[in-house]
Amino acid sequence: MIPSSIVILTGAGISAESGLSTFRDKDGIWAKVDVNDVATPEGFARNPDMVHDFYNQRRANMAWAKPNPAHFALARLEQAFPGAFLLVTQNIDDLHERAGSLELVHMHGELKRALCGNCGYRCDADGDLSRDRTCPACGAKGFLRPDVVWFGEMPYHMDRIYAALNACDLFVSIGTSGNVYPAAQFVQEAALAGAHTVELNLEPSLGIDDFAETIHGKAGMIVPQWVDRLLDGKTA
Ligand code: OAD
Repeated sequence: MIPSSIVILTGAGISAESGLSTFRDKDGIWAKVDVNDVATPEGFARNPDMVHDFYNQRRANMAWAKPNPAHFALARLEQAFPGAFLLVTQNIDDLHERAGSLELVHMHGELKRALCGNCGYRCDADGDLSRDRTCPACGAKGFLRPDVVWFGEMPYHMDRIYAALNACDLFVSIGTSGNVYPAAQFVQEAALAGAHTVELNLEPSLGIDDFAETIHGKAGMIVPQWVDRLLDGKTA
């Protein structure tokens, strides 16, 4: 069957071969730092310097990293696919856009953006963030934070994402462990809407049983192969 509407969800695994750490693998980010310290509003209130250092380092790593064949394959798919297409990423890196993806939403925010906790203004981070930076809109000092979604906060673009999930006939999840909601539940939403569901991941995710089709391996290998098959009309 040739799909008419595709939603793709990506997670940290798609950027692993670009040299960016995942979260829950053995040597992942959450094995080294406490999620409560660096990914909650309470952690930022307790120790803003530590939180800024953490995201400044990740922003620097992102600047060195390059998109890998999996990012490029998804951009190629979007360009060649005649139907509706939405790429939803949980990643805060910019590798999808640097590979050429256009219909892309960052549901957990973006490292390269800053958000003022005082007035809600959003702007480019323009290098490191710190307590010394002032908001370009309200002038308040010390309120600029990374524009990323922390635990306890509402992910971005949810209306657009659910509308696409409810209208899609193919849902593909790539490089995510299925630990974090609401993203972990998108497969069920899409399946309820009648979509074929595919997991492309290094290993079975927590939600493996919800997928109709699963392919396991490194994203840099299996995503380009899967995109080729889809565009040749040989899958889904
Ligand atoms: P995880 O670290 O939880 O999961 C990454 C998944 O990628 C795992 O299932 C790995 O097996 C897989 N993986 C690793 N290397 C891979 C490769 N080369 N090719 C394919 N798959 C590979 O990361 P996420 O699921 O993205 O949220 O985590 C979801 C959210 O939890 C993140 O957005 C972040 C984190 O806490 C916030 O900070 C709000």
